[in-house]
Amino acid sequence: MTVCKTTGLTVEQQNRWPFLYSHLSTDIEIPSLTNVDEQFIIEMDKEISKILKKVGDGKAKSRESLTRHLTGLLQRRFQRNAKVQAFGSSVTGLSLGTGDLDLCLSFKREQPKKVLRKIAGLLREEGMMDIQQIPKAKIPIVKFTDSRSGLDVDISIENRLAIYNSKMLKGYAQDKRVREFILMIKYWASRRGINTAFEGTLSSYAWTLISIQHLQMTNPPVAPNRQKGGKQNLIEINGDTFDISNDSSPFESKNQQTLASLLIAFFDRFATRWDWNEMVVSIRNGGPLNAEKKKWTHTGPLPLEIVTGQSKNRMEHIMPIEDPFDHEHDLSRVVKAEGAMTIQEEFMRALHLLSQGKSWKDICAPVMEIDEEPEDFFHDLRNQNTDSLKQRIEEMKAEVVQVEERIHSLVTERQNSKELLDLLRGTLQETRNVKSNRQSILAELRPLSMKVQELRQTRDGINDRIAIPTKRIQQEMVRMFDSLTAEVDVFNTQSLGREKGDFSYFFELQAMYKASIESNQAHQEFIRLRREQNKEYKALKNTNSQEEDVLNRLVEKNPELKGINLHPKTVKEFQQNANKLQKSINIQYSNKHELKREIGRIEAWIRIATSKGNQRPRKDSKPRQNRRQAPTVNINEVRERASTGGSFSLNELDALLSKGGISGIESKEKTSTSGQSERRKSGRKKSTYRVDPRQGRKRGKKQSRN
Ligand code: GTP
Ligand code: MG
Repeated sequence: MTVCKTTGLTVEQQNRWPFLYSHLSTDIEIPSLTNVDEQFIIEMDKEISKILKKVGDGKAKSRESLTRHLTGLLQRRFQRNAKVQAFGSSVTGLSLGTGDLDLCLSFKREQPKKVLRKIAGLLREEGMMDIQQIPKAKIPIVKFTDSRSGLDVDISIENRLAIYNSKMLKGYAQDKRVREFILMIKYWASRRGINTAFEGTLSSYAWTLISIQHLQMTNPPVAPNRQKGGKQNLIEINGDTFDISNDSSPFESKNQQTLASLLIAFFDRFATRWDWNEMVVSIRNGGPLNAEKKKWTHTGPLPLEIVTGQSKNRMEHIMPIEDPFDHEHDLSRVVKAEGAMTIQEEFMRALHLLSQGKSWKDICAPVMEIDEEPEDFFHDLRNQNTDSLKQRIEEMKAEVVQVEERIHSLVTERQNSKELLDLLRGTLQETRNVKSNRQSILAELRPLSMKVQELRQTRDGINDRIAIPTKRIQQEMVRMFDSLTAEVDVFNTQSLGREKGDFSYFFELQAMYKASIESNQAHQEFIRLRREQNKEYKALKNTNSQEEDVLNRLVEKNPELKGINLHPKTVKEFQQNANKLQKSINIQYSNKHELKREIGRIEAWIRIATSKGNQRPRKDSKPRQNRRQAPTVNINEVRERASTGGSFSLNELDALLSKGGISGIESKEKTSTSGQSERRKSGRKKSTYRVDPRQGRKRGKKQSRN
């Protein structure tokens, strides 16, 4: 792959961004647009007004009816807690007809849980296409495509600032020149493929702000600053305060520039003189803000460094554009390196083409297939026979019935599956209760058993050492005590050694007695704890039968549970099955909507085709059987008589009317005075007069009566 040594761009990239590449790689002069030929501006203005006639919101009606439909749908779903408001180009008057429909859903009371999922489900049932939930964005959004109109729709939740800024943009767009200028910039950006935020370029909204900024900076300004001078209006959203002041009073500009001249100045400004490193687009300021003061200087690598693979770091504030109400929101946050290169390329391209005297059409030449209205909604039906179309409708209607049956059976199956699932969950919960009961018994049993063991050891240890029962020790102690404390016979005294032995025996007995008492106590405690232990064991056994009871009871009540292994895994399997069924239901719903839409389209075409047929019968159509034929009379003779004031019969009058009526007489008179060409004209008139013979006759009769 050949890579440019100066820029690092590959050949493919050089071809993708040719104007930018030549500026980066060579020292070519940047063209100036300050002295453009006046004739060129006049021609460009003519071109622009032609384009403006073509663009516009051709889908405005579809947008309105879709907004109404979705509002009703959401209000029914959320029991009138929901409020739906349109914002964006459908309310600002800045729609080219190709943009999306932006709707904001807010709640009068508490926001329902899992709201995006609920909306997505609702839209699925409606047969909407490409439904996408974006829950993690600052403003959660559901995106989808309306299957009927093909409109892309964004439903955002609690997007209050967007409502306010759309209101302000509507104020700016009141001025015809401002509106048309913004439309032309949006037109250029859309046809050149640089107005798609999700693809890394700027949103339509950002282009609108850049346009307004330009119009505020012309001398004299074409657009005012609507956020200065009016009454201050502060609102709080989630603890943050926003100034949404909007001075909507009319603005009279002293600037006389035409659209073309304003557009040329726009490209001159943004292609060469706007320093994105130092300037922040700010319509609330009426002119650029200093990027350093705003702390929005560009950080991270340059787009060129990213596209040539020299860096992978993040770029910040690459083309800083401040949101008029949310001052921390930089609309260039979404711009990716490739997008930034393409935007710069487009500015350079427009500058070069304008300097070469190329037309506005050339500058806006589409880079890809533009999403414009289809040429003809019925193009594939035009050459088809009505009978075969009717047959097709019947077939599709039969198919709709089949699909409905399929939906019905799937819904029933899912319901059953869901019920079983709930049952399983409940059963598991109940058995789980029993199980947790068992756990707590076991938890108590464990230390109890250890204590019992300990007591047994104490008791048996003492008993091993002292084999004599306590009572016996007691008796022996009494006996020894008596002997040791008896009256002493001085003549018959014990030897000292013997006495010492008795005493130590007595003390020994005392110690034995104490140990024996201890052993007895341990034994008593042992017995008590054993009883307790037995009780717990019994309870434990009981839980087993309880679990069995619960299961038996449930299976008895719900025989469908029989044979199902009660395990959390089984519940998961059932859940997956229910989800699968839901997916199939969604597919069937889309099929149904698709079929119904197609039936509607064909029926509409048949209506159009047959009503056309009534007005202008096709050449090959047979004459109607009941149409009355004009009586056979010599028309020339009758005409002659009529023109000279002679009398004629009703039959002759009828023939005269069906061959051109009274005008036939007039034309004859004119023929004699004004020659061939006039005759041809009146002849043509005659034929149009005969488009509907019934009408001709009626009028003729009336005239004759008069
Ligand atoms: P089209 O849909 O192309 O006709 O243009 P639009 O004027 O409707 O603009 P877009 O769809 O890009 O934006 C719709 C509205 O969203 C704007 O008018 C703003 O009120 C609001 N908005 C607020 N912040 C943003 C943002 O960061 N990006 C975009 N795209 N819109 C924003
Ligand atoms: Mg929009």
